[in-house]
Amino acid sequence: MTVITSIADLRELARRRVPRAMFDYADRGSYDEITIRRNRADLEAIAFRQRVAIDVSAQSLATTIAGEPATMPVAIAPTGLTGLFYPDGEIVGARAAQAFGIPFCLSTLSICSIEDVRAAVSKPFWFQLYLMRDRDFNQHLIARAQAAQCSAIVLTLDLQVQGVRRQDLKNGLAIPPRLTARNAFEIAMRPSWALGVLFGRRRSFGNLEGRMPGATGLVTLSQWIATQFDPTVSWKDVEWVRSQWPGKLILKGVLDAEDARLACESGADAIVVSNHGGRQLDGAPSTISALPAVVEATDGRCEVLLDGGVQCGQDVLRALALGAKACLIGKSFLYALAAMGGEGVTTALDLIRKELAVSLALTGCNNVQAVDRSILFDSAPAATLTRSVVKASS
Ligand code: GLV
Repeated sequence: MTVITSIADLRELARRRVPRAMFDYADRGSYDEITIRRNRADLEAIAFRQRVAIDVSAQSLATTIAGEPATMPVAIAPTGLTGLFYPDGEIVGARAAQAFGIPFCLSTLSICSIEDVRAAVSKPFWFQLYLMRDRDFNQHLIARAQAAQCSAIVLTLDLQVQGVRRQDLKNGLAIPPRLTARNAFEIAMRPSWALGVLFGRRRSFGNLEGRMPGATGLVTLSQWIATQFDPTVSWKDVEWVRSQWPGKLILKGVLDAEDARLACESGADAIVVSNHGGRQLDGAPSTISALPAVVEATDGRCEVLLDGGVQCGQDVLRALALGAKACLIGKSFLYALAAMGGEGVTTALDLIRKELAVSLALTGCNNVQAVDRSILFDSAPAATLTRSVVKASS
């Protein structure tokens, strides 16, 4: 493939470049994958108003996300195991995001550690946190994020128990990855991945040294999560994190209006409307359909971000129209990274930026910060055809 014109192209390249267990970890959802499909389908169902004869020569895509300037309303979502998709994947991703001028979020379940990434970049990045049974360890992670001058903690709230990703079980996804009789042929067909990752320097969770069994005790990710993550987490624990962390606090996994109100009361600066990319509660609504009620519930008290199925600039525009300040990209980022490393991530961001710019112009709008529902077909006085589709998702 020579010309990359979409995230779908990068996905296809990624499929060829990394072993199936890795690709599926990024690509697939939980149980029957209803929610992961809804995320895409509901985005695609939202129609724009096409406007003409409006001067759109001077555009601005710049915005702020959780108080930080960004060249477009997009941030890189925290994704687990990123460094197993490409050597030093978190460093590569953080550098590409910073060069582009958008926030990068490092996952607790990253391969490069907080300190590895800090040493490789010049601007602050965000750190994503899970609450563990061992709260001292959380305190330790928060202190490390503070020492690394992270500008925000993204506290993920929707993984206190793990939804079953059937494909991961079938693939026997294990950390660190290993060469087995079953995958030997597949790995032999992916020599650059094998050289860079399988036989590379960093192959296990960089932030969790001493917390994973050693080479003799390989575990699956889901087994490890089941023993370490805290299923008792409540809003009191969110307040505890708030009291420990002086920087911006972003709560990820809020999909319900009632939870959005509680999130505002807990002192969050922003929330991410998320269903964990369709990887947790299968049967949950798409994030784009949950967004309007969440925005209404926050009533401007905290910023609302969205992830879940965002694969093009048009998707970003749809989310902005329904009240999000910005979108996070997880899968799209991993496809791009696995496909072509830093160049892939830059290509993906560039594609999204151009799609956003063109789509914004064709809706007759100049500034992402001025986008509202009026750019949707639903809000046009004579629109009837897709009204029911937008209504169903709002
Ligand atoms: C971790 O965040 C995962 O979804 O596996």
